[in-house]
Amino acid sequence: MSGKHQLIERLDTHGKLIIERHIHKMSTLIATGVAHPNIAFIKYWGNIDSELNIPSTGSISMNLDALWSKTTVTFEEKLKEDTLAINGNPASLLALQRVSTFLNIVRTMANRQIFADVRSVNNFPIAAGLASSASAFAALSLAATRALGLTLSEIELSRLARRGSGSSCRSVPPGYVEWQLGRGNGDSYAHSIAPAQHWLLTDCIAIVQSSEKLIGSQTGHLLAATSPFQPARILDAPRRLAICRQAILQRDFDALAKIIELDSNMLHAVMITSDPPLVYWQPSTLAILKIIPDMRAQGWPVCYTIDAGANIHIICPADYSAKIERILSQIPTVSQVLISPPGGGVSINED
Ligand code: DP6
Repeated sequence: MSGKHQLIERLDTHGKLIIERHIHKMSTLIATGVAHPNIAFIKYWGNIDSELNIPSTGSISMNLDALWSKTTVTFEEKLKEDTLAINGNPASLLALQRVSTFLNIVRTMANRQIFADVRSVNNFPIAAGLASSASAFAALSLAATRALGLTLSEIELSRLARRGSGSSCRSVPPGYVEWQLGRGNGDSYAHSIAPAQHWLLTDCIAIVQSSEKLIGSQTGHLLAATSPFQPARILDAPRRLAICRQAILQRDFDALAKIIELDSNMLHAVMITSDPPLVYWQPSTLAILKIIPDMRAQGWPVCYTIDAGANIHIICPADYSAKIERILSQIPTVSQVLISPPGGGVSINED
């Protein structure tokens, strides 16, 4: 609890001046949200409205239970501006501006003009194509709205998170999630298509690059329209989404594998044919892609997908993850292997 002192002068019943010191107790406006990043099976790349993050296509993803961002927001009247620390270090001006712009939306919703101290901690490499801003903005959406006394529905929260980072709207609902194609702010949000327990898939992530990527997704989305392949990608999206949705609902790994890999390849085809071209892969990304057919030749159900980074996500049923982890961790260029089952949605941390 913080307090504010105020001196109040009044006359008592005998006309004597009394000066009273009042301490106004102010409840601290603080809340902590926890959210998981998600791996997109059918990916989001390109917007029809970049200001509101309204995508050109729908997308489908799985939340990653083993990875998390925990964000604590403290609104305090004494603050003269917003502050942001990521993993204990003051964030870059760019990151702070992005968070401040987002907090302005929350302040407008709550009709409060008060700055916040934001502290975000992640248990995985940030800004390396692992969707750290997805989990960070989902956690921030819940923490900031709760701290200001707002209770939003899942849809409202997903819509809000989308404003911070598009894919973040998919980290709000639990499990397997679809971000439906909407035309504007009102109908552009994500919902669960199946809970995490529906299908115990595992994401085995080979980290070949944990440093910050040079071109962030926000710039990438703007470049998408410069690729002659983007219209074909958009046109075919409803078909890929339907196959992916169906494969998840029917737990059909072969159908899922085929469509996930096609979608990832289409995304990177757009990226490398943009102006200027975006090449996120490293030689080791390709080297790992090349061993996936060997895994399949042994009868292992596996498939790959790659986001806006060099790291590779290998998706498999849970009982194959130990074998894949063993193989990936023997590759010299792989610095770390992260293993994650499907995860839940955003929640408040009560500690
Ligand atoms: C390639 O704009 O959501 O991961 O805000 O930079 O995290 P950041 O990304 P965002 O774009 C994500 C692009 C993608 C595909 C996807 O997750 O759908």
